[in-house]
Amino acid sequence: MSSQLFKKKPLHVLLEELNGESRLRRILGPLNLTGLGVGAIIGTGIFVLTGLGAHIAGPSLMLSLVVSGLACLFSALCYSEFAAMVPVAGSAYTYAYATLGELFAWIIGWDLILEYAVAASTVAQGWSHYFQKLFEMVFKTPFPKSFGWPPLQYNPGTVLTSSGSIFNLPAVVIALVITIILVKGIRETANFNTTMVILKLAVIFLVIGVGIFYINPANWKPFAPHGLVGLTLFGKTLFGQTDASGAPLGMMAGAALIFFAYIGFDSISTHAEEAKNPRKDVPIAIISSLLICTVLYILVAGVLTGMVPYDKIDKTAPVAVAFMQVGLGWANVLITFGALAGITSVLLVMMLSQPRIFLAMARDGLLPPKIFGAVHEKYRTPWKSTILTGIFIAILSSVLPLEILAQLVNIGTLLAFLIVCGSVLVMRKTHPNAERPFKTPFYPFVPIMGVLLCLVLMLSLPPENWLRLIIWLGIGFIIYFAYSRKHSHLRNEIKENKD
Ligand code: ALA
Repeated sequence: MSSQLFKKKPLHVLLEELNGESRLRRILGPLNLTGLGVGAIIGTGIFVLTGLGAHIAGPSLMLSLVVSGLACLFSALCYSEFAAMVPVAGSAYTYAYATLGELFAWIIGWDLILEYAVAASTVAQGWSHYFQKLFEMVFKTPFPKSFGWPPLQYNPGTVLTSSGSIFNLPAVVIALVITIILVKGIRETANFNTTMVILKLAVIFLVIGVGIFYINPANWKPFAPHGLVGLTLFGKTLFGQTDASGAPLGMMAGAALIFFAYIGFDSISTHAEEAKNPRKDVPIAIISSLLICTVLYILVAGVLTGMVPYDKIDKTAPVAVAFMQVGLGWANVLITFGALAGITSVLLVMMLSQPRIFLAMARDGLLPPKIFGAVHEKYRTPWKSTILTGIFIAILSSVLPLEILAQLVNIGTLLAFLIVCGSVLVMRKTHPNAERPFKTPFYPFVPIMGVLLCLVLMLSLPPENWLRLIIWLGIGFIIYFAYSRKHSHLRNEIKENKD
């Protein structure tokens, strides 16, 4: 049994599979791919979570963005090495299968559900918040509360309580509309995404270009009101300050939260199979989309914390409200609209990526191939699993509170990045001569720093996240041992070789 758990999928098998049946359509060029990256990155993080981040880190939120951006850059370089080496749909899942064996591959595949499907559920709720704001502006009456929020509400340090609402209707509707676009095809998706990306970039430039004239440098002092660290482990404060509920405060704690804003660049690697020239274009797209967003984010955080004292920044729609606070009410509608477009594209790319991970897992026998491996004859999209993913996201986003979803996404994604950085170290040892069209520079500094930074950020998240991550992985183990292990193609190969 242990031989199966740690059995690796040979690199040559992965490359041979690239030429097989049931492959996706190769139509994405470097601009499409970078657009998908920017599409997946700029959204709820910068338009919503910067508010909470500013309260945790103060103006040092700018530095938080540099730190989490660095963790992402190190991970992005490692992702690029793999994506160019094995340009198939499974992203980190496939890389782990080739380097660390089946059990790790399963763990990471299961963990990636947190990054994509659960992130999409978080983002659908962010979308719903902004939609309700727009609804109120247009119809001059609030959206009915019973259908605007999940029935459960999160109170730090206590259990979930009832919010008095029935379910989050706009979140369900947007999840289902996006599902339909995704089933139609990758070209339609990429075109729709490009329009949304142009809209949100225009709004980000407006925020920076106008906001810069309203900065009061006095608002940047003190720069780090809660200090520069903020680390906890299972409820124990390791360094820095914590709030009344035991959650860490300070620049690093801000970095762990705002990390969410960067999530998505790696989704480009899930489209490697649809790229025209994956070996070159995927690394370029991953790194350029991340760098573009890092620069924009630091500027937005600088403007935001310069316009309004950090403890007066709004927690639900910080950017739009900051403009109102300095007397620029007209910008409110534009920013709300841009945020809505931005968040729509994030949702689109996240929901596009999840079925592609499932597809890779189904091809290996770890998930039922009839559902997760089915590619539509005409549209060439993994349609059944796209629909199933859409329904899952609609349900999750309509009932669970945003905070719980967002933090689960962060810890899950950090774990995935950590494993990818670690896998580069393993792969260089086990396959030193494999063809690497893109090599992580400054080896081994970059992957080692990637592992360490991801770990520190995981420790900077509120402590209950570790428990949630362990429960999630526990459910994953049950499924693996009940179904996947028995149906694994690799297991059957091992058996055949023995017979
Ligand atoms: N980075 C994405 C966002 O901020 C997930 O919405």
